Amino acid sequence: MRVCVRNLSVHYQTPGGEDLPALGPVTFQIDSGTFVSLVGPSGCGKSTLIRLIAGLQKPSRGEALLDETVITDPLPSVALMFQDANLMPWRTVRDNIALPLELAAVEKAQRYAQVEALLPALGLTDFALAYPGELSGGMAQRAALGRVLIQKPEVLLLDEPFGALDALTREQISFDLLRMWTQQRQTVLMVTHDINEAVLLSDRVLVMTARPGQIAADVSVALPRPRRLDHIYSDLFTHTAQAVREAIAL
Ligand SMILES: Nc1ncnc2c1ncn2[C@@H]1O[C@H](COP(=O)(O)OP(=O)(O)O)[C@@H](O)[C@H]1O
Ligand SMILES: [Mg+2]
Repeated sequence: MRVCVRNLSVHYQTPGGEDLPALGPVTFQIDSGTFVSLVGPSGCGKSTLIRLIAGLQKPSRGEALLDETVITDPLPSVALMFQDANLMPWRTVRDNIALPLELAAVEKAQRYAQVEALLPALGLTDFALAYPGELSGGMAQRAALGRVLIQKPEVLLLDEPFGALDALTREQISFDLLRMWTQQRQTVLMVTHDINEAVLLSDRVLVMTARPGQIAADVSVALPRPRRLDHIYSDLFTHTAQAVREAIAL
């Protein structure tokens, strides 16, 4: 599915009643099955933009569309993941991942079969019966990713999903995400603070200005797929990352 954002802007009201322009106006399109990252200074409206596309919030002006449909409410084909895994501590990994299926009244045997099928790609094969308290931060995010992917979304909105993890863990989990994306080809919009991560994973990197965030640059990443870690040593990678960094500095 294609995500389309047109002249979208958001203003918040401060407690003092003043108008706070938080985002926009922004206009861009994410073609079906492409992986796009969003980088920009803290507070520029990235999470606001994600919430708008998720249908959790209304724009002040403009609109967000999923194919031809204006987004006004959360849609089942769109899934959202945050920096915080938000697992239920009293449920096993299997039951946390299966939660969306349980809410959709899928019967237990079928729920567990679907989770089983997903665990190897998530790197959680041996952790189905573990509880969140027994997991590392990376494992918890893997479970959170599973809970999102079990819904078979067509659009994946990721708001700094690996931001709290150490660099090596983040590298592993982001490549696992990339492998799963290669098979399912969701339309992805991922917010990240890490320019290298943005370039390494994405087809395009959107760079936002300071609040109210607008699109400062739309940088295409011409690296071949499948992506490999050693792509970061190529001139193409260096030049692309530099283009992103310079756009941020403006
Ligand atoms: N619910 C809200 N009410 C008022 N101001 C908000 C609200 N949510 C975010 N803001 C403000 O809007 C701006 C953009 O926030 P946010 O979208 O969270 O930015 P980012 O994710 O890029 O850090 C910030 O200045 C923030 O303080
Ligand atoms: Mg944010």
